[in-house]
Amino acid sequence: MYKYLKVEKEDVFTVITINRPDQLNALNLDVLEELHWVLEEESRDPSILVFTGEGEKAFVAGADIAAMKEMTPLEAEKLSQAGQAVFHKIYQWPLPTVAVINGYALGGGCELALACDLRIIKEGTRIGQPEITLGIIPGFGGTYFLKKVIGEAKAKELILTGKAIKADEAREIGLVNQVLPQENFKGEAFNQVREIGTKGHKALRAAKIILSDNFEQVKSGLERERTLFAELFTTEDQTEGMAAFLEKRKPKFKNK
Ligand code: COA
Repeated sequence: MYKYLKVEKEDVFTVITINRPDQLNALNLDVLEELHWVLEEESRDPSILVFTGEGEKAFVAGADIAAMKEMTPLEAEKLSQAGQAVFHKIYQWPLPTVAVINGYALGGGCELALACDLRIIKEGTRIGQPEITLGIIPGFGGTYFLKKVIGEAKAKELILTGKAIKADEAREIGLVNQVLPQENFKGEAFNQVREIGTKGHKALRAAKIILSDNFEQVKSGLERERTLFAELFTTEDQTEGMAAFLEKRKPKFKNK
């Protein structure tokens, strides 16, 4: 049984819910490890996968900042590697994967959504990559996949400013596929997934293979991201950025 995940079988898909609502479903190494194991388990007989978050407020509010604050560069590299590996496994999943974004999708949450084939978001919800406000960069594949999904100009805008955009803007720039009303959000989103499930699975598998980048294409981007992410854990700005978040104040970066 999982401590931080709920796994529920629906008719034609499986729902994996990140279940740490008190921390807004933030991802630490334990959550990533459970995601690794659930994907291993599910890969024996793959179905369409849905990822969502527990509670009304968050899909996933990022990697766990409290856990990252004191990390050494080596520990940060291991965290990045664990996140990249799990998200890449989702990206390569043989059948469609859908992020049902029921609340904040920030940092690792945006990256989890980017690893999925389709993104359905609740009206009014915010999504983005705020790592720069913590003195770091995305480390779970976001630099590669955000640029791939929305293009270099918009990816730079989101990553360099760290701003979280609202659902409608996310739809306009192609970061999400669909915005659905708040009322019965998950029910309506699941109906969309059910519709995909009526398609022939042989053709769905073939479409995924031909439309996805292969590992050789993705690999060097992920390696470069991981190295730069880890290096930032030698800086005072990373310590200050994360301390400031946890102390609920603005960071004072010294560019050191
Ligand atoms: N890691 C660890 N804890 C987190 C977290 C994260 N990424 N995001 C939120 N939390 C915790 C908060 O510390 C807080 O804990 P507390 O109740 O013990 O103080 C709790 O979840 C609720 O968050 P809070 O910030 O009080 O809620 P809010 O409504 O004021 O703001 C967010 C919501 C999502 C805007 C805000 O939590 C946020 O910006 N989170 C971090 C996003 C981020 O930078 N992610 C990238 C990480 S690399």
